Amino acid sequence: MLAEKIQELLQQVQQLHAKNAEELEALRIKYLSKKGLLNDLMTEFRDVPNEEKRTIGMKLNELKTQAQEKINELRNSLMQQDDATDVPDLTRTPYPLPLGTRHPINIVKERLIDIFSHMGFTMADGPEVEDDWHVFSSMNFAEDHPARDMQDTFFVEQHPDIVLRTHTSSVQARVMEKTEPPIRVICPGRVYRNEAISSRAHCFFHQLEGLYIDEKVSFADLMQVMLSFSRELFGAQTQIRMRPSYFPFTEPSAEMDISCHICGGTGHTEDGHTCALCKGTGWVEILGCGMVDPNVLELNGIDSTKYMGYAFGMGLERIANLLYRVRDLRMFSENDVRFLEEFTSAG
Ligand code: DAH
Repeated sequence: MLAEKIQELLQQVQQLHAKNAEELEALRIKYLSKKGLLNDLMTEFRDVPNEEKRTIGMKLNELKTQAQEKINELRNSLMQQDDATDVPDLTRTPYPLPLGTRHPINIVKERLIDIFSHMGFTMADGPEVEDDWHVFSSMNFAEDHPARDMQDTFFVEQHPDIVLRTHTSSVQARVMEKTEPPIRVICPGRVYRNEAISSRAHCFFHQLEGLYIDEKVSFADLMQVMLSFSRELFGAQTQIRMRPSYFPFTEPSAEMDISCHICGGTGHTEDGHTCALCKGTGWVEILGCGMVDPNVLELNGIDSTKYMGYAFGMGLERIANLLYRVRDLRMFSENDVRFLEEFTSAG
C-alpha cells in the first residue's frame, strides 16, 4: 500500500511545474511542509512491519530527495526567468538588502552622551595630534615627573613637542583655556598609546572625559553623578565604590568600581561558580576620577581660590566589554562583519 503511494508520488513529483513564485510555494507546502504529503507518508511509515522498513524507508528517502531537488530546480529556473526579463516586476517582494549595524563603540558612546547630556553636560572636542602642553604640562605632569611614564606616548618624529594624545584629558585644558566657569562638558574621543597589540591592549582606543567646574563643587557631587550614570547604564540596582588612587591632575583621586552587573555583586553565579567577570570580588573597575587639582585650574587660567571642580575619564572599550563581554580588544578595530552583526539589535 505505502510502497504504491510512494511510487505514485515519485512520478507526480517528476512532472511538477510552477509558473510563478506563488505556485511554487503552493507546491512546497503540498509536498514538503509539516502538513504536506510526505509527512503523511512518514506517519504511515511507523506502522510498516519491521521486515519491510528497510526497503520502504529507502524509497521514502528517495522520494524526499527527489521532491526537494525538483522544488529547488523549479525555484532556480524561476529566478533565472526573473533575471532575464528586462521589465522589473514592480509587484514582486523586494529581496531583502543587508543593512549595516552600528559599531559597539559608537553604541556605547551615544548611550553615554545621552546619559550625560540629560544631566546638563555639553560636548567638547580637541585634536588627536596634540602638543605636550595640553596632554601633559597643563594637566600638572611636571617636566621630569615619572607620571609621564604612566602612559606610553607616541611622539611625532623631529617634533619632540608634538604627540598623539594619550588621554582625552587634553580636551579639559582646551576647554578651560577658552571658557569662563561654570564648565560642564564631556569629551569623547580616540587616544593613542605605544603598547604592543594584544587581546588586552591596543595602540589606540577610545575614552570619554568629563569635567565640571563651578564655585561650590564637592566630592559628594561627583559621587552622585557617578552613581546616577552607573545606574542608567548598568541597571537600577548598581552600587559604586571609590578607591583612593593617583592622577597628576586630580587631588584627591579615585578609581571607581561598580557592583558586578553579571553576578549582582555576590561574586558567584546562581549555581555557586565564581563569577567570571568580577573574579569573585563582586566589583569591577570602570573609571578614574577626582577633584580637579587647583594647580590644573591655575595652569589653565582659572582662579583656584574661586572655583573648584571634578573630572572623570573612562575607556569606551572597557565599558563595551562590560556590557557585551567582548573578550578580545582587537575585535573592536578589525571590522569583521560577523562580529559587527552581533550588534544588530543592541543599543
Ligand atoms: N586620563 C586618565 C587616563 O587616561 C583617566 C582619568 C582619570 C581622567 C581621572 C580624569 C580623571 O579626568 O579625573 O588614565
